Amino acid sequence: MFTIVKLNAINSTNSYLKEWSKEKELSHATVVVAKKQTLGRGEMGSEWLSESGKNLTFSILFRFSNFSISNQFYLNCAVSLSLYDSLLPIIGKNLTIKWPNDIMSANKKLGGILIENTVKSGFIKQSVIGIGLNVNQVHFPDSLPNAASLRLASNKIYDLDGLLQSILEAVKKRFNQLKRGEFRALNNAYQKVLYRRNVVSKFSDGKHIFNGKIIAVLTDGRLQIELENKELQIFSLKEIKYIF
Ligand code: BTN
Repeated sequence: MFTIVKLNAINSTNSYLKEWSKEKELSHATVVVAKKQTLGRGEMGSEWLSESGKNLTFSILFRFSNFSISNQFYLNCAVSLSLYDSLLPIIGKNLTIKWPNDIMSANKKLGGILIENTVKSGFIKQSVIGIGLNVNQVHFPDSLPNAASLRLASNKIYDLDGLLQSILEAVKKRFNQLKRGEFRALNNAYQKVLYRRNVVSKFSDGKHIFNGKIIAVLTDGRLQIELENKELQIFSLKEIKYIF
């Protein structure tokens, strides 16, 4: 199913795949994996830093023929659960998905996902799904105090090609579920493994720091939090931050 293209170095596998798909009618499920990214991109304009040759940085191109933008949340569930499924045997019960799609081992971030969609008339035509997973890296810059890797979490060194294959296997399964329209199952599975759900945590809305409990992620992708006074409040990604 997957066509894998391996590169030594590139600015960003997401940027590369997006540009390439404009020039050429690439086949569905083309994967670009790079040993090194010089301009790796994270969510909300952040950068993704990854030591060359130690980790997985790759992007997958998916084409859709009839996928409404209103179901975008389930695409996020499918991608995050793919990573979750493939890492569960390695990390075990400490593994969670931090809203919207960070992969966590306890309170440390192992990996992140950057989904970039091309939308036409309310339908997602194609999706470039970028995955950055810290695998064998041991030292992280001071700017990333909450980063960890599979090696740090499990004390083992991993074969990057083997790991990529098992992630792609998991992606295939979750995308078949998505294709079959099993949205409720994807939603349930995602909510079940959500980081700090039903646990009192500290958040900031840019003005105040407050305590709250994550109740759920709504199907429009926003986060529902129960405040200390039991009031329910809903936040979009730009409106709230976790305080570790
Ligand atoms: C995040 O958590 O902020 C998302 C990080 C996504 C990083 C991956 S690495 C492969 C792909 N190419 C990029 O430039 N970004 C994604």
